[in-house]
Amino acid sequence: MRTLIKGGTVLSSTGAVAADVLVDGETIAAVTAPGMFTEADTVLDATGKYVLPGGIDAHTHMEMPFGGTFSADTFETGTRAAAFGGTTTIIDFAVQAKGTSLLSTLDKWHEKADGDCAIDYGFHMIVSDVNDATLKEMESCVDAGVSSFKMFMAYPGVFYSTDGEILRAMRKATETGSTIMMHAENGIAIDQLVAQALAEGRGEPVQHGYTRPPELEGEATSRAITLAKVTGAPLYIVHLSAAQALAAVAGARNEGQNVFAETCPQYLYLSIEDLAKPDFEGAKYVASPPLREKSHQTDLWRGLRTNDLSVVSTDHCPFCFKDQKELGRGDFSKIPNGMPGVEHRMDLLHQGVVAGEISLARWVETCSTTPARMFGLYPRKGVLAPGSDADIVVYDPKAEQTISAATHHMAVDYSAYEGMRITGAVSTVLSRGRVVVDGGEYHGSAGHGRFLSRDLCQYLN
Ligand code: URP
Ligand code: ZN
Ligand code: ZN
Ligand code: ZN
Repeated sequence: MRTLIKGGTVLSSTGAVAADVLVDGETIAAVTAPGMFTEADTVLDATGKYVLPGGIDAHTHMEMPFGGTFSADTFETGTRAAAFGGTTTIIDFAVQAKGTSLLSTLDKWHEKADGDCAIDYGFHMIVSDVNDATLKEMESCVDAGVSSFKMFMAYPGVFYSTDGEILRAMRKATETGSTIMMHAENGIAIDQLVAQALAEGRGEPVQHGYTRPPELEGEATSRAITLAKVTGAPLYIVHLSAAQALAAVAGARNEGQNVFAETCPQYLYLSIEDLAKPDFEGAKYVASPPLREKSHQTDLWRGLRTNDLSVVSTDHCPFCFKDQKELGRGDFSKIPNGMPGVEHRMDLLHQGVVAGEISLARWVETCSTTPARMFGLYPRKGVLAPGSDADIVVYDPKAEQTISAATHHMAVDYSAYEGMRITGAVSTVLSRGRVVVDGGEYHGSAGHGRFLSRDLCQYLN
């Protein structure tokens, strides 16, 4: 079964070129000068459109247990929504509960996801219980294709690890060549600010932002960088939101340390003003780190250009406004943390291209090629080249659309970007050669997506 995508502009992390793409079965057979091939079982006309490697969202949380509930998207609904938005791979997080093993956790997440996903998927491992057995199991995780471990300097009593525990896990990461991903906020200090706010009767959603100031993200980021330096571990800062944290990352990178960072669309487009919306509407925007003052956005866009921010992921972690965010009415600390976004990352970052903040090549690089290399999936994913998986997005840069919960495909009752006008839209999406989305219609199926056993970070190994 051969599919020819002809007449389009093929994008990569290095630029744009007029070319045709020939798909044979599940992989790309050739990327050629226009018109070289004419014969195929199916021909897709991409005239006037971009043809790019499918998006890779390296940070999602489907069916995640959090705050006494579960994130609203299942692996089935969440990966289908991702496909609609031009994302053809997710890397989700298996979550170790305290007192349980990493390998039983991994089994549990395979049970949740296997047979349910519309697109290919991998896992990171959240380590929340550092002990001799867990550290040993990190080796088995790497062997099982889970080569990155997320730790938390936030959420004391839940996922939090002490500096000593982080140091121990980092040593194991150095030994195995794996990557430590860090949620860098000073959770001990934050808990004090939260307690104080609640004692003073300040319970509304915006207090979530006031009690997690950017300085405490900057401090934790610096501390994580220091621990990584002492242990030699590669470090990847997740969901970086604050200028202070970016400065710490940039400083470490300038000194040659293997520190990487991602940001998320919500930090580029939304702000603490959204968190301050009245009548509890701010709860829709509660995520950690919190949305910041708008001034941080300028720094984040610059970071994307300079590569101090190498990846854009969503941290997709949706909770319904009506029955889940509601848990924290009157007490912001009980609002489940997280926002929906897996469907709109490619569109939102394309607005950065339209606005002149980033180049087309950088769009592809931060949303597909770099996440592939960062998490050991390249060149199977992240590039349109012979032999690569035929994960392909045909994108119409001139189309206009409006984001709305009424039309999105995520299983959540609101959009954080409700009413936002977008220039550009996904036309067709292929996952391993199969058309899964075309003209706004779904042609995929649960179970088409396969588990991706990942190699180590390809910037270092
Ligand atoms: O608020 C967030 N980010 N929820 C998801 C869990 C995490 O810390 O990434
Ligand atoms: Zn986090
Ligand atoms: Zn997250
Ligand atoms: Zn619901």
